[in-house]
Formats: sequence, C-alpha cells, structure tokens
Amino acid sequence: MKIFLDSANLESIRKFNDMGLLDGITTNPSLLSKEGGNPKDVMQEITKIIKGDVSLEVVSTEYSEMIEEGKRLRQYGKNVVVKVPMTSDGLKACKSLSSEGIPVNVTLVFSPNQALLAAKSGAKYVSPFIGRLDDVGQDGMKLIEDIKEIFDNYKDDFKTQILVASIRHPLHVIDAAKIGAHVVTLPPNVLDKMLQHPLTTIGLENFLSDWKKLKDGNSDIK
Ligand code: E4P
Repeated sequence: MKIFLDSANLESIRKFNDMGLLDGITTNPSLLSKEGGNPKDVMQEITKIIKGDVSLEVVSTEYSEMIEEGKRLRQYGKNVVVKVPMTSDGLKACKSLSSEGIPVNVTLVFSPNQALLAAKSGAKYVSPFIGRLDDVGQDGMKLIEDIKEIFDNYKDDFKTQILVASIRHPLHVIDAAKIGAHVVTLPPNVLDKMLQHPLTTIGLENFLSDWKKLKDGNSDIK
C-alpha cells in the first residue's frame, strides 16, 4: 500500500520523507491556506522534495478554466497530479487532461457511483473522504469496501487507484490496508501516532538504564 502525506507543511513533508515513508503528497486549498505564505512557492517546493505523485488541486469550477489551471499546476513538476472536484465539469476536465497524458485525482468522492464515474472518466486516483462520512454518521470504510469490490470486478477496464482520504486515526489505515486500498493519504499527526507504541518507549528506556548500570560498574565500557 502506498502512503501519501496529506499536508502542505514543508517541515512535516521533509521529516517523513527523510524516513523513506512517503510515496506522494496530497494537498488541497484548505491545507495550503493553513500554511500561509505564497502557495505557488510551497507547491513548487513540494514537487522538488517529493519524487512521487503530488496532487495539486484546481480552484476553478468551470471546465475550460480547470483545464487551463490544471496545465499551469502541471508546470510545477512532472510528478504533479491535477486534482479536480467530483462535478460534471470536473469529470470532463478529468477526461481531457487524462487523454493528454496528465494524471488526475478526482476528489470529494462520497459514494460508490461517484467513484465508478471518476474511473470511467480516466482518473488515475479517486479520493473517497471517509472521515467526513463518519462525521455525519455514515460508515466511511464501507465506501472503501464497495469501491474496491466494484473496481475488482472490472480490473481489465479500470486502472484507477483508490486513494483513501480524510483519514482521522491509525485504525482507519489498518482497515484500508485490509481491504486492499491502493493508497492512504495521512495527516502528519496520524503518521506520528502510527510509529509510536508505549511499550517501545518503555522498552527503550529500560534497555538504556540497564546499559548505564553495567557501564557505571565497568570502566572498560565506553
Ligand atoms: C484529500 O486529498 C484531502 O486533502 C483530505 O484527505 C481531506 O481531509 P479532511 O476531511 O481531514 O479535511
């Protein structure tokens, strides 16, 4: 399973990339707005740090403007995936950009039918937002199961990857991996939680204090 970071924070991106954990990045207008500064510089820098796919989202809502904006975003790097919303214009833009060889991520997907249509339009990625469904009392992970089943039924027709988005906690990641989703995009705090376990912390403290005791009683040990 590929791991993307769902962030526009350069410090977090560098931190997890240095650990070899990142296959790509997803951003959106809200994440860029949270970082402040000039979004163009931030987007440019992300495409330099990360070798894998970097999703940059259009803010246009009309087809021809989306195409123009998508092509502009693509100039930031060959690894840019243009993110378009799950609308009629978005799907039309998805078809045009994809047929020109520009990969597209269809975002704001909340139903199996939307995922099916995004795949038909030639999307490289479809982004179902599971946390936001959980927030309104619907089962986000069930959506991933349904999309996986549908895509598996038509493996020869669809090459679209399921990019599980709006992840809120590490259990979401385990469930998505069990289902066999292709990609999860994680906020930095979820990735941080995944690498920690209290028994690891306690175990390391014990190893170090036992070693110190041995060292204190033996001047030959450095
Ligand atoms: C995905 O590409 C989106 O950026 C993201 O996962 C949205 O998550 P949120 O619901 O936490 O805003």
